[in-house]
Amino acid sequence: MNDLRGLILSGGKGTRLRPITHTSAKQLVPVANRPVLFYGIEAMAAAGIREIGIIIAPETGDEIREIAGDGSQFGVAITYLPQSAPLGLAHAVLTAEPFLGDAPFVMYLGDNLLQGGIQDLVDAFRRDEPDALILLTPVSDPENFGVAELDGDGRVTRLVEKPTQPATDLALVGVYMFTAGIHDAARAIEPSARGELEITDAIQWLVDDGKRVEPHVVRGWWKDTGRLDDMLEANRLILDAIEPRVEGELVNSQVDGRVVIEPGARLVRCTVRGPAIIGAGTTLTDCYIGPYTAIAENCAVENAEVEHSILLAGSSVRDLAGRMESSLLGRNVRIRRDDRQPKAYRFMVGDNSEIGIL
Ligand code: G1P
Repeated sequence: MNDLRGLILSGGKGTRLRPITHTSAKQLVPVANRPVLFYGIEAMAAAGIREIGIIIAPETGDEIREIAGDGSQFGVAITYLPQSAPLGLAHAVLTAEPFLGDAPFVMYLGDNLLQGGIQDLVDAFRRDEPDALILLTPVSDPENFGVAELDGDGRVTRLVEKPTQPATDLALVGVYMFTAGIHDAARAIEPSARGELEITDAIQWLVDDGKRVEPHVVRGWWKDTGRLDDMLEANRLILDAIEPRVEGELVNSQVDGRVVIEPGARLVRCTVRGPAIIGAGTTLTDCYIGPYTAIAENCAVENAEVEHSILLAGSSVRDLAGRMESSLLGRNVRIRRDDRQPKAYRFMVGDNSEIGIL
């Protein structure tokens, strides 16, 4: 088999994560303080893939280029592949065709996270040489995914994108392995009802054409981080396995369990109960940080309790009466108690924000 290439999809609009995605790509929202996209790149690098193409959208492409760079920080070479509009995953494959040539490749949706990486799958793909290898996992809401039907021998017979009446609970995970035949399939299909060239339809085309499509049921966890709850859960799963490390400054403060305190962070009279990560240059004063919290760099938390939340860079939370939890704050968000008269709630909130009041 030719050398495998990697294709990471990092376009799309991220509508389900607005307002965060009004100003930033959904693939750059941090999980345990690292852009979710980095986990996919690292999984490919760990599986020995050296040439990676990243599909980018006009709105967010520059930001992704700036952060992921030429790939040298991951030991890979990255080529950026602009896609004119979000016309579907199979359209993205066609956009990448000049980069991929006739090489077999791993396609990875840039907002997906897969525990345990992809080494085993790449090995199986190289060994068995099927035309395509797809990953499946049982989910409780199959109507939100591509859904697979298998026959008695475990072969793939049918794939349907977001069926209203799913025939099984086996969702297509956003990691796929293909040989070059997928390009013909992507050219042969028509746009779906949502106006996209669906990868699910392209794979169905391979099945109908008598090609060998191997299913693999994923054993570890998998997360599509498209919604707030999924982001928080992904953050939880990654933090659960984080290596504790305290490099910042602790003044009359206590750190319990799996906690990372980055260099330049400063804690004064605080308790941090892990799993949690506190970014570089962040100051925590008179506060409690509870489990499953990721606070990015240059944030400030003062006289407040924060738990099970993600704070992006430059945000601050001050003088709260109640505990803040299950929250996602974008960059440079400021939340504080305000004792001015008249006593009232005062907000300046972007489009599509959500606020829960005590
Ligand atoms: C896409 C695929 C779907 C797959 C899902 C996995 O859906 O079309 O088949 O199950 O990714 O994350 P989308 O995120 O584009 O709605």
